[in-house]
Amino acid sequence: MHKPNYLEARSRDKRDYQRKDFSFDSRYLEKYKGKTYYIKTYGCQMNEHDSENISALLEKLGFQRVDSYLKADLVLLNTCSIRENAHNKAFGMLGRLKHLKNEKKELIVGLCGCMAQEASVVERILKDYKFVNFVLGTHNMYQLPEVLDQAIVDNSMQIEVFSREGDLYEGLPVVRANSFKAYVNIIYGCNKFCTYCIVPYTRGRERSRRKEDILLEIDQLIQDGYKEITLLGQNVNAYGKDLYDDYNLGDLLEEIALKDIPRIRFMTSHPWDFTDKMIEVIGKYPNIMPSVHLPVQSGSSRILKLMGRRYTRESYLELFHKMKDMIPGVSISTDIIVGFPGEDEEDFLETMSLAKECQFDNAFTFIFSARDDTPACRLEDNTSLEEKENRLQRLNEVVNEGFLNKHKQMIGKTVQVMVEGVSTKKNQYYGYSETNQLINFSSQKKLNVGEIVPVIIEEAKTWSLDGKCSE
Ligand code: SAH
Ligand code: SF4
Ligand code: F3S
Repeated sequence: MHKPNYLEARSRDKRDYQRKDFSFDSRYLEKYKGKTYYIKTYGCQMNEHDSENISALLEKLGFQRVDSYLKADLVLLNTCSIRENAHNKAFGMLGRLKHLKNEKKELIVGLCGCMAQEASVVERILKDYKFVNFVLGTHNMYQLPEVLDQAIVDNSMQIEVFSREGDLYEGLPVVRANSFKAYVNIIYGCNKFCTYCIVPYTRGRERSRRKEDILLEIDQLIQDGYKEITLLGQNVNAYGKDLYDDYNLGDLLEEIALKDIPRIRFMTSHPWDFTDKMIEVIGKYPNIMPSVHLPVQSGSSRILKLMGRRYTRESYLELFHKMKDMIPGVSISTDIIVGFPGEDEEDFLETMSLAKECQFDNAFTFIFSARDDTPACRLEDNTSLEEKENRLQRLNEVVNEGFLNKHKQMIGKTVQVMVEGVSTKKNQYYGYSETNQLINFSSQKKLNVGEIVPVIIEEAKTWSLDGKCSE
């Protein structure tokens, strides 16, 4: 049993890790043939992508995917720790599984992802959710076959969580959710330690994948017919810093842009590491989508300092406007937290004025949620939840109005849309524009997913646009 330990998770001393090739232990191949699994994924794109690896490992074990936990022999929760409601959702699901297991004794339940890295969660599972068969951490996901097998064979709860990141495994199997767009990890972990955030504890320090491994994966995806690649990392802008003296995200983007791939995206970017070279490269290549997710978190420099974000309102705005000037037609989306400890009405009004000035193309807004053992959870917080909810509502009104205004300006224009799906109505499709807006549109011609077609915008809504394919 390896339980998580926060002190270890926090340390960032220089440690060597090795790049290793994953190989599937043949003893487990098809061992559970005929059994079914259901995986529930919470949280960010990185978790979604981890679930693609986890699913592939389970399928090598012989499990077959089903679309309801009620039908499954194995239920795996790939969890997220970012805010309390993510926790609550996972514990709510564990509650339902507890009932189910009373009727179906042979059901196997596993928990992995970020919550597995939290000591308090593991203690709660040991105390109140004894029926859970295994808990597996984010750093040793590749051990799923043996941990799951041990749990079944021994019929005892397995807890295997490394608090320190281990070696970096290449070549994990993957079953991708889509046949035309794919996620590619470029960097794991985060070294920023924003004072409110749990990610550096659950995902470890920054570790970049070697460029050769990334480029090889992308070449394979191109060969397999993929049309869009999203480079993933908690902070993709830090790419390469731990490996190379002179090779960063700008260089990587440029190398990928020269390949025959129609769409390249990347997320998330921390404003701190955004270099001019990166901005130049994004502006230069038409297959790098002009769409940047640039979380601001707050419009008040005083709060940004308390958050440990390493930039001010002014330097954020400077970067924002530089991007608008240097990347033609760029869309910029953001994340904002309201109700950070100590945020007063004046600070909040600064966030409101920044949101008005930036007119973000999309914004994810949250109420601050205290996370275990993060510095911010020890700060004094005198603002009532009611007041925080009121701020969130006022902010949402401003950002939503901004989306609608921007969308209205697009009426009559033609945008390039990558078809993602067919809607239930006849001749109706949906997809995303280069700047990442959801477009619902009609087409007389039959279209396939992954195709990129011109669409004339006819109607604007807050969250989407309607149009007609002009081909
Ligand atoms: N790595 C990304 C963010 C990952 S988490 C970045 O730094 O940009 C996604 C978003 O969740 C954050 O941008 C932040 O707005 C929000 N978030 C993170 N921790 C939070 C907390 N404790 N309470 C509320 N929101 C939080
Ligand atoms: Fe969290 Fe900050 Fe790292 Fe983003 S940059 S994952 S908000 S610590
Ligand atoms: Fe959540 Fe972990 Fe992602 S905390 S947001 S799943 S890195």
